[in-house]
Amino acid sequence: MLYLGVDLGTSSVKVLLVDEGGVVCKTASRTYPLEFPQPGWSQQNPADWWSATQACISELMDGTDAAQVKGLAVGGQMHGLVVLDEQDQVIRPAILWNDGRTGEETRAMNEHFGKEKLLSLAGNIAFAGFTAPKLLWMRNHEPENFAKIHKIMLPKDYVVYRLTGVHSCDYSDASGMLLLDVAHRCWSRELLDYCGVTEAQMPRLFESYEAVGTVEPGIARSLGLPEGVVVAAGAGDNAAAAVGTGTVGEGCCNVSLGTSGTVFISSDSFRLPPEGNLHAFAHADGAYHLMGCILSAASAYGWWTKTVLQAQSDNDEQNPIADEALGRNPVFFLPYLMGERSPHNDPEARGAFLGMTMDTTRYQLTQAVLEGVAFAIRDSVEIARSLGITVTESGLCGGGAKSPLWRKIMANVLNMEMQVPVLEEGAGYGGAILAMVAAGTYPTVREACAALRTERRIYKPDPAIAARYEERYQVFKALYPALKSVYPTLAMKE
Ligand code: XUL
Repeated sequence: MLYLGVDLGTSSVKVLLVDEGGVVCKTASRTYPLEFPQPGWSQQNPADWWSATQACISELMDGTDAAQVKGLAVGGQMHGLVVLDEQDQVIRPAILWNDGRTGEETRAMNEHFGKEKLLSLAGNIAFAGFTAPKLLWMRNHEPENFAKIHKIMLPKDYVVYRLTGVHSCDYSDASGMLLLDVAHRCWSRELLDYCGVTEAQMPRLFESYEAVGTVEPGIARSLGLPEGVVVAAGAGDNAAAAVGTGTVGEGCCNVSLGTSGTVFISSDSFRLPPEGNLHAFAHADGAYHLMGCILSAASAYGWWTKTVLQAQSDNDEQNPIADEALGRNPVFFLPYLMGERSPHNDPEARGAFLGMTMDTTRYQLTQAVLEGVAFAIRDSVEIARSLGITVTESGLCGGGAKSPLWRKIMANVLNMEMQVPVLEEGAGYGGAILAMVAAGTYPTVREACAALRTERRIYKPDPAIAARYEERYQVFKALYPALKSVYPTLAMKE
């Protein structure tokens, strides 16, 4: 039997065809454009997600015994606001998770309710990337579009809707809307009211591994799929990637170095971080997790090496950086190219290099970018530690985890063992696992993860390097507070 796992990312969609033993038989991927209409804004066209996903599925089905395909699920970029009108047509481009236009609305929401009340209603405070502030922004800035809204959904739910005709959402992804009472897994009437929307405009809620429906016959024919392929509700990409790396159960940690960088800690029960400085979300296995998210991780490295340096290869950029240099870089980089979410919640923050002299080399700057992302991720790990959560080892996944140098930097900056799956297919692999559960191949997500656990390569911190990084991290921690008051003055006036 075969399953399709879709990773609906920010720069591309990747689809995997996986057998019930967890072997990835084929993969296909397509990129799509990302618009930055103003500094700090970020949008995408849902039609592009759908055509790219269709192209991938058709490519995978070419030469495949279609009758073997039993299920499909999508793990998708979280928080993006997709709005449909009465005819189920997309009203405006989707406003994405890393869009910072909602600073005002985010502040207004946090002030209106107060931290404590928001935490009791949603388990989370407002962050600029979350969906509810985007709805408020639309109401304030595009009232004619807001008035047309018939259905609200998240990016992966749009693909599920095009496949099945069902308006659905799973609890893990819905957690990042700030419209869900995460602890009780239901929409919060009070938060919907505040945003001026009704429950009828919201999608139907499912567990990630529950079947939403089957692929509509016409669509199945056009994609080369058999009739009756079960579509699971799917999950936010971080929860799906966590399923893919077996990060389920109490106290398991996974760090992802994708476009965003995340620290994901699974737990059996709902836990409320008292300040709301980690997200408290539902997990795709039916339980919960805590998460910290930085907005620019592998994307910061991509910006530096591709856009700025126009480097030919990662090896050329990274090979000259020797172990001796780790923890000894005088240059710091703040990776806040799209503003920052965890822990600063500051859409006006911006990237910065500090500490350069006439001796500074290109390689020190490259090293600073890799280290700056690692330090920013450590900020979230420190919050988890301050809550009494013992994190001593972690999975490491995402595009950035392919770099041996970055793995070493992560293990030493976080001062913990990092385990990198030998075959890492991210959110798409988690999607395939959710599809297996929805199709009845495995009884639960946790049992599927236990059966399909892949081999991992271990990266241990080196005590001397970790000690040097400990000192550098103390310097890094002082940089954002020092620059905070300058950021609002950086924006160019019209
Ligand atoms: C998580 C988040 C990002 C996106 C990236 O809260 O915003 O990790 O899901 O796709």
